[in-house]
Order: sequence, then structure tokens, then C-alpha cells
Amino acid sequence: MPPPTLPFLLFLLLAVVAAADVASSSPATCSDIVPLPWRADRISITDYGGVGDGRTLNTKAFREAIYRIQHLHRPGGTVLYVPPGVYLTGPFNLTSHMTLYLAKDAVIRATQDTSKWPLIAPLPSYGRGREHPGGRYMSFIHGDGLTDVVITGDNGTIDGQGDVWWSMWRQRTLDFTRPNLLEIMNSRDILISNLIFQNSPFWNVHPVYCSNVVVRNMTILAPYDSPNTDGIDPDSSSNVCIEDSFITVGDDLVAVKSGWDEYGISYNAPSSNITIRRLTGSSPFGGIAVGSEMSGGVENIVAEDITLFNMGVGIHIKTNVGRGAFIRNITVSNVHIDKARKGIKISGDVGDHPDDSYNPNALPLVKGITMTDFWGVNVLQAGLMKGIRDSPFTGICLSNINLGGEPAPREGAWSCSDVSGAAYEVSPWPCSELTSISQSQGGYCATSF
Ligand SMILES: *[C@@H]1O[C@H](CO)[C@@H](O)[C@H](O)[C@H]1NC(C)=O
Ligand SMILES: *[C@@H]1O[C@H](CO)[C@@H](O)[C@H](O)[C@H]1NC(C)=O
Ligand SMILES: *[C@@H]1O[C@H](CO)[C@@H](O)[C@H](O)[C@H]1NC(C)=O
Ligand SMILES: *[C@@H]1O[C@H](CO)[C@@H](O)[C@H](O)[C@H]1NC(C)=O
Ligand SMILES: *[C@@H]1O[C@H](CO)[C@@H](O)[C@H](O)[C@H]1NC(C)=O
Repeated sequence: MPPPTLPFLLFLLLAVVAAADVASSSPATCSDIVPLPWRADRISITDYGGVGDGRTLNTKAFREAIYRIQHLHRPGGTVLYVPPGVYLTGPFNLTSHMTLYLAKDAVIRATQDTSKWPLIAPLPSYGRGREHPGGRYMSFIHGDGLTDVVITGDNGTIDGQGDVWWSMWRQRTLDFTRPNLLEIMNSRDILISNLIFQNSPFWNVHPVYCSNVVVRNMTILAPYDSPNTDGIDPDSSSNVCIEDSFITVGDDLVAVKSGWDEYGISYNAPSSNITIRRLTGSSPFGGIAVGSEMSGGVENIVAEDITLFNMGVGIHIKTNVGRGAFIRNITVSNVHIDKARKGIKISGDVGDHPDDSYNPNALPLVKGITMTDFWGVNVLQAGLMKGIRDSPFTGICLSNINLGGEPAPREGAWSCSDVSGAAYEVSPWPCSELTSISQSQGGYCATSF
């Protein structure tokens, strides 16, 4: 072979430079917050008696495999591999330093025998179950006090078979709050990726009292009319990143929360530093939501590149008298909506208290909500903003918003009370409350909290 020519070497050099350029302009990602750890130790659920025939109950296999991971404590942790097949099981707990890996065509399916679901204590920031006083059903997959946990695979499925729970809820025959599909409490360094979650009995993914949580490249599915099947609810958690996911469910796609009324106020654990990007989905409720449980406070939230279709409300910030705390520094940008009842809703009257002992003087502070670059068609009402009389919402800044589309929204495209802020290039023209600050004070949006 002749030695490489100078032009060829130059070509190579240029190719390397071009590749570096492509890398530096690749889209922002949070994949580095919780990097995928390498684990040399690997076990399969079939080593513990797991049978993927869709009928055998595998609860013992999952619990024993995870017990073994917890107690053998291999350096670097252990992968629990779930091969193709349908593995019916009751709920189980995860442990630290493990990866739950679902092969392509592997399904972990929740038993519909509700007697197999233990009750656990209510969350202190809620004081009771979300739906009923007292305890609540343990999540299908549960984790408490964990670190370094990965739940991933090759598009395998975690299936909650929630319809039995939804019909009990509809018939009002439940005494306790329904289980989440996945709840991780008091934990850090958690990665959830590359899987399908479907038919959760209640909320799908619930990180609560956690930090460093990444949820990416996920598909989350539940019927449009399934009750309370929220997609991802970061709750009293910080440094959470949700990206590149597709969610169609029966309730909010993502709802950032932090506890409920007097319980959330005294537990005092905010949700902060949360990024939501490149999310696509549909639901009869909110696309990106904050609240309504926000009594530990919610701040520093960025949501960008959000594509919504067949929605109830595009962006929904919701709170209530009695919640206390704050919602501040929320930025939502580059939102596309095709068909919604409302594009934007900011409401201070959602109702819903844990009990009668909430403090009616605990008023939430809502300040610094910036929404830019929204484009929508078939949006019935562009925006409804209803602050609280004794705690008006301030610093609501809208720019480059076009929620007109086809057909043109009816009269009263915007409805506002007890809010103030600024608007720039908003169509249809917003209510006067938002134009009360002139464009010459354009810096107001960035510095108002
Ligand atoms: C799972 O963990 C919870 C909370 O840490 C504990 O109360 C419960 O007993 C565990 N359940 C099982 C089935 O291991
Ligand atoms: C997303 O997940 C699928 C499997 O569900 C996988 O094939 C693909 O490589 C993942 N993409 C990224 C960027 O991780
Ligand atoms: C993963 O499954 C979802 C839902 O079935 C599908 O939309 C997606 O294309 C699949 N991804 C890959 C990489 O196979
Ligand atoms: C939020 O992020 C900032 C900057 O990345 C960091 O300084 C701060 O500690 C984070 N806050 C929390 C509660 O982790
Ligand atoms: C607002 O939130 C963003 C995103 O988390 C953060 O970078 C910024 O520092 C926050 N601003 C203030 C004034 O806290």
C-alpha cells in the first residue's frame, strides 16, 4: 500500500474538525447528570426461578434476586437482566447499585390481585394518601433510600395493568390510595431510560425527596380516560432532568409537585432545578404542569421544545389558598400545540385539600413565570390566568406567543384577574393586566424574582 498522500491527511484532519463541530452543536442533553454505570456482575431473573409465561407469579424471583444484589454487594453493582417474555409479579423493592435491564420484548407485568399489594405509610409531605386518608398501596416498583439505580433496557415494557384499579376507583370501592407504577423516595443518582411504561394504576413515575434523577428516551402510555395516570411527577426533588420522551396518558404529562397544604409546608422540601426538554404527548389535562400540590415550593424550572396535541391545557400552573410556599422562576419556551381547550392556564383556585385543618391564610406566592415562543392551532382559549386576590401573581411574562391558529379563537381569548406582568408579540392580544408593564421595561421578565 502506498503511504497516505498529503491531501488525504488534510482530508482526514478536516473530517476530524467537522466531526468535533457536529458534536459541539449537538442538542443539549442531561445524559451526563447520571452516567450509565458499567457493572461487571450480571444475573438473570431466570436464575432465580423467573418464568416469563405471563401466568407464573414471579414476585419471589424478583425479591430474591434483588435481596441477593443487596447482600452480595458486588463492586460496581449488579445488572438484573429480564429476558424476553412476560413476567407477572407482585410489587417489589429495588436496592442500591443495581440496573434493572429489560430486553426487547421483555415485559414486567403487575398482578391484578390487589391483595398482593402491601400498604405503606403516607408521604410526610402529604400527611395521608393522595386519594384516601391513611396509608397507600406500595408502588409496583418501589425504592426508598437508594443511590446509583438504573432502570433501562431495549424498549422493554413495565405494565401496571391498571384497569382493575381504575374501575375500583370509578366504582368508589377503594379504601386506600392507588399505587404508582414506579416510586423512588429519598434517593439520588437514578436513571430511568429506554423503556415503555404502560397502564399505571395511578401516577407513572414518582421521584419524591430525590436528587439527581434523569428520565430520558421513555414512552409512557395510558388511555386518555384513565384516572390520574400522570406521566412523570418530580415531587420535592431537585436536579431532575426529563428529556426525549413521548407521553400519552389520562392526566398531566409532567407535573412538578412538592407536598400538600399544612403537611407540605411543615415538611418544607422544595422542587428545584428541573429541566424538561423535547417532550411530545397528549392528554385531557396539562402538558407541563406545576402543582397543584406545591407546599414545599417550586423553583428554577426550565421546559423547552414541547410538542402537544389533543390537550386539555398546554401549560398549567396550579395552586390554591392553603398551599403556602411559592412557585417562582419558571421558564417555558418553544411550545407547539395542536388542539387544546386552553393554551396556558395559571390558576389559584384549584380546590382540593387534604383535610379541613389547612391554614386559609397560607397563601402561595407565584412570581416570575416566563413563556416564550408558543405556537398553537385549534386552541379554544389562549389563556386563563386567575391569581389570588390577597396574593396576586406577578412577573407573568409572555413573548412571541401565537395561539390563534385555525379556527380563530372566540372572543375572550384571554381572561385574567389578580395577575400582572408583561406581554410582547402576543396574538391574540392578551388581557390588559399583562400589558400594564411597558416594553421599555423589557428587562423586567428576567429580574423580577
Ligand atoms: C419495601 O420497602 C418499604 C419501604 O422501604 C418497606 O416498608 C417494605 O416492607 C418493603 N416491602 C417489601 C415487599 O420488601
Ligand atoms: C432510546 O431507546 C431505544 C430503545 O427503547 C434505543 O434503541 C435507542 O438507542 C435509545 N436512544 C438513545 C439516544 O439512548
Ligand atoms: C419503542 O416502543 C415504542 C412504543 O411501542 C415505539 O413507539 C418506539 O418506536 C420503539 N422504539 C424503538 C427504538 O424500537
Ligand atoms: C441548582 O443548580 C445550581 C446550578 O447548577 C446549583 O448551584 C444548585 O446547588 C442547585 N440546587 C440544588 C437544590 O441542587
Ligand atoms: C432561574 O432558573 C434557572 C434555571 O434553573 C437558573 O439558571 C437561574 O439561575 C434561576 N434564576 C434565579 C434568579 O434564581
